Amino acid sequence: MNEARQRGCFIAVEGIDGAGKSGQSRALVTWLRSLRLDVLHTREPGGSPGAEEIRQLLVTGEAARWDTLSELLLVYAARRSHLTQTIWPALEAGRWVVSDRFADSSRAFQGVAGGLGLEVVEQVHALVVGDFAPDLTIVLDLDPAVALARTVRRGGSEDRFEKKGLAYQTRVHEGFRALALRSPDTHLLIDATPPVEIVSAALLSAVAQWLALRLPKDRLPKDRLPKDSR
Ligand SMILES: Nc1ncnc2c1ncn2[C@@H]1O[C@H](COP(=O)(O)OP(=O)(O)OP(=O)(O)O)[C@@H](O)[C@H]1O
Ligand SMILES: [Mg+2]
Repeated sequence: MNEARQRGCFIAVEGIDGAGKSGQSRALVTWLRSLRLDVLHTREPGGSPGAEEIRQLLVTGEAARWDTLSELLLVYAARRSHLTQTIWPALEAGRWVVSDRFADSSRAFQGVAGGLGLEVVEQVHALVVGDFAPDLTIVLDLDPAVALARTVRRGGSEDRFEKKGLAYQTRVHEGFRALALRSPDTHLLIDATPPVEIVSAALLSAVAQWLALRLPKDRLPKDRLPKDSR
């Protein structure tokens, strides 16, 4: 990627419900900011005022409230707002963006676990997003039963997808793993089983290596190769 205008990097953090995305994406943002990068931390569904309203429709209430195609269309309406109002302007301004979830969630949840199939997701994706994609996607890999136990302990009302049950979360998990394994150049699969600090250390080290190996030097923070910064 060698655009004339140097845009920021876009990193998505993915994984099943309770895999640790919120905590680990915060750690990633803190680390990137320590490299003196200007980083916007955002999330999906959500990340713009309209998309946050759509989030409430998606993540609360009964599981049967929406069928899978309605879910997909709501997610992509929210994503369109998130992209046009938040992500694209930030990247254009040279900021880096870290998003808790992005399009791989649609592929794994609605495409694989919900049974729509990846082709349907890609059709809507092409219409809404075009060929824009994260520079890097981090997939937090955790046994769905362990993840479910973590979310039960955490509580809260944003549990509509957890209510779909362990078999559904197991299909989401398999979907995420397959997406990560098919695109090793753009995806990092991180074991999210160990304690938080161990997962963070593995994640930051993998990202540092990815930045040093894959990102052209002119897109790295000046005089600070991430490899040497920890
Ligand atoms: N490595 C870990 N070991 C034990 N508990 C963890 C670990 N990582 C996160 N947790 C706990 O598990 C719960 C879920 O973590 P978190 O909210 O970060 O997951 P998430 O992927 O963002 O979930 P969601 O998809 O529901 O937003 C939290 O209570 C968090 O403190
Ligand atoms: Mg979260």
